[in-house]
Amino acid sequence: MKYNIAVLPGDGIGPEITQQSIKVLKAVADRFDHEFHFEEADVGAIAIDKYGEPLPESTLELCKGSHAVLFGAIGDPKYDLDPSAKVRPEQGLLRLRKELGLFANIRPVKAYESLIHQSPLKREHIEGADMIIYRELTGGIYFGEKSTSVDGQSASDLCAYSVEEIERVAHLAFKAAETRRNKLTLIDKANVLETSRLWRKTVTEIARQYPKVKVDYLFVDNAAMQMILNPRQFDVILTENMFGDIISDEASVIGGSIGLLESASVGNSSALFEPIHGSYPQAAGQGIANPLASVLSAAMLLDHLGLKTEAETVRMAVDLSLKLNVCTIDINKDNHYSTERVGDFLESVISDTENHIVNKENLSLGQTTII
Ligand code: IPM
Ligand code: MN
Repeated sequence: MKYNIAVLPGDGIGPEITQQSIKVLKAVADRFDHEFHFEEADVGAIAIDKYGEPLPESTLELCKGSHAVLFGAIGDPKYDLDPSAKVRPEQGLLRLRKELGLFANIRPVKAYESLIHQSPLKREHIEGADMIIYRELTGGIYFGEKSTSVDGQSASDLCAYSVEEIERVAHLAFKAAETRRNKLTLIDKANVLETSRLWRKTVTEIARQYPKVKVDYLFVDNAAMQMILNPRQFDVILTENMFGDIISDEASVIGGSIGLLESASVGNSSALFEPIHGSYPQAAGQGIANPLASVLSAAMLLDHLGLKTEAETVRMAVDLSLKLNVCTIDINKDNHYSTERVGDFLESVISDTENHIVNKENLSLGQTTII
């Protein structure tokens, strides 16, 4: 079957990591006989430079007409250092999420056995941790009314949620819990925020439709601590936009590197796949960026297209790269590989239908001839 995939490499390390995912997806297409048609478009700082806006109409149209969007990263220090900038690269991603109706951002987090020894957290705390975060993505403080007073002495960001906005993402999270360990934790700040109280009330009501799922409620400050002290307690986490942004960066420490965390943003029709990390501008063009989060996002894209075996094949290749330490410097300090070499390795594992690389006897051969 033929699939149209919009590719939005974006800023900083976005283009180089996305390139590796395309390599991987092309290897998948060859091996499993699919046709992926990739079309690139600008978004973020690069789009502001070229067109004066972070999300040109042509980019939006391309995304709307595609089966899926593969997104790189967004952001540039020249905007971070200028709080008075009128246009910002991040607005491109936020508008894209809103326009495509991507109300749920799904972020799986697990402790990779082969990386546990290098985690700053203790093995006994993180071993076996395996959770999935459902972050609401098109509401809350990110999208509420913003204002700065005329004299510049005060500013405000409104946090608003409707029952409907809470319900649609909550149903997805409950359904996911039913396929996992039947546990859902709602993270909120219901002791202080009115919106959080609406989340609790709505989620408690929805829970009746999913009697097998046990629901826990945690205040976000406590949840931030629990994430480090006892992450194994989490199965499905459901939370609002900003708490989800923060808690998922924190959770990435469990995975070993933020360079490993993939995500899918879904709605009623479109879907977008992106690593959770940012554009890491200091590293751009140096070949040191970890492509695995992007590649794992591409695996989620394959899942979304219904290509389960293909997605598993990509994950198997990533697992092998971690096991054999064919990794970038964030994971492999002493004997690291470049962004492109990691991509080449994944491509060869996927194309290796006779399992030359997977086969233990050929590991050394694989390392010298293929990498
Ligand atoms: C993320 C990012 C974005 C967000 C930024 C780039 C707007 O941090 O996807 O987590 O805050 O949602
Ligand atoms: Mn973030």
